[in-house]
Amino acid sequence: MSFNSFGKIFNITTFGESHGEGIGCIIDGVPAGLKIDKDFIQSELDRRKPGKSKYETGRKEEDEVKILSGVFEGISTGTPIGLFIKNTNQKSKDYENIKDIFRPAHADFTYFHKYGLRDYRGGGRSSARETAARVASGAIAKILLKEIGIKVLSGIYAIADIKANEIDFSYAKTNIIYSLDKKIQEKQLKLIEQCKKEHDSVGGVALVKIKKSPIGLGEPIYYKLDGILAEAMMGINGVKGVEIGDGIKASEKKGTYNNDEIDKNGFLSNHSGGILGGISNGEDINIKVYFKPTPSIFKPQKTINKNNENAICELKGRHDPCIAIRGSIVAEAMAAIVMADMLLLNMGRRLDNIKKIYNG
Ligand SMILES: Cc1cc2nc3c(=O)[nH]c(=O)nc-3n(C[C@H](O)[C@H](O)[C@H](O)COP(=O)(O)O)c2cc1C
Repeated sequence: MSFNSFGKIFNITTFGESHGEGIGCIIDGVPAGLKIDKDFIQSELDRRKPGKSKYETGRKEEDEVKILSGVFEGISTGTPIGLFIKNTNQKSKDYENIKDIFRPAHADFTYFHKYGLRDYRGGGRSSARETAARVASGAIAKILLKEIGIKVLSGIYAIADIKANEIDFSYAKTNIIYSLDKKIQEKQLKLIEQCKKEHDSVGGVALVKIKKSPIGLGEPIYYKLDGILAEAMMGINGVKGVEIGDGIKASEKKGTYNNDEIDKNGFLSNHSGGILGGISNGEDINIKVYFKPTPSIFKPQKTINKNNENAICELKGRHDPCIAIRGSIVAEAMAAIVMADMLLLNMGRRLDNIKKIYNG
């Protein structure tokens, strides 16, 4: 049993720490014959990479991906694909003053008590540096999904309580905080800027949309599509809530509003967010992913040290003022990984499909 792996058939295992040699992943279960575009993997990593603007951590990493295995002459061979991203801009000295104390809201306290030691340099394995490997894996998943027309998109829905009114995924691609709404982007930017000035951080919400999913993906009862998407999102650093479709709001509504009626042309609304009974219904799959404010802030905070004595946490180093921004790209990648896995799992679930594969 591995706790650093995810997925049943399209299975990823990630490794590496924030200030170690680098971050990498093994992606097993990728069908042979897929054209692996390295530039595309790189472009996905570039969307997540740190230090692109003042709204992100100042840790500048090129995040250049190296393909180690599983690809021959640009085509997947059906063997495990190994990807590696070297760490190049570690500043472990910045963390020396906190090596014996626990940063409030970070994983220092729990990692130390669980393992009896901790790699304090940049948060070690608990650092979101690991999410670069998820984005690289997600790029491979997207390449597979593209073969059948499935698209995964993301953007920033809210920064604190400044929420999008109009959703425009193509606009999200063009602005530095990936905001979905042109009209409120400036307001969201200003809030992040203000928090940064005040040595504080702020929470936010990412919206992920999966378009053109075929009907039938998801494996009831314990591998339902919504259940696994929620697991994938909740597993991302700093995510504190996930909603599918109307989510929690559905609990405030009546059935007459919430039920998605159907006619011969399809569903007349999509409150369910494209999933019924844990199975995709062919509509867009909408997921809201709620990120907490960045734990590392530059204000003195009360904490304790390893000897359980009171201490003050005063941070140096470079941190994202709002993790939701780069987190949205991670959420998009995880959604793609889930969809790739569900797609491959679904192939063996009906005799007529199996016959088509083997008998033509
Ligand atoms: C893309 C991304 C970037 C992050 N950057 C930072 C950061 O610069 N500083 C920090 O303290 N936490 C950062 N985090 C959040 C921490 O990794 C996370 O809060 C910590 O591991 C504790 O886990 P938990 O919040 O899920 O309990 C980031 C998270 C994501 C998804």
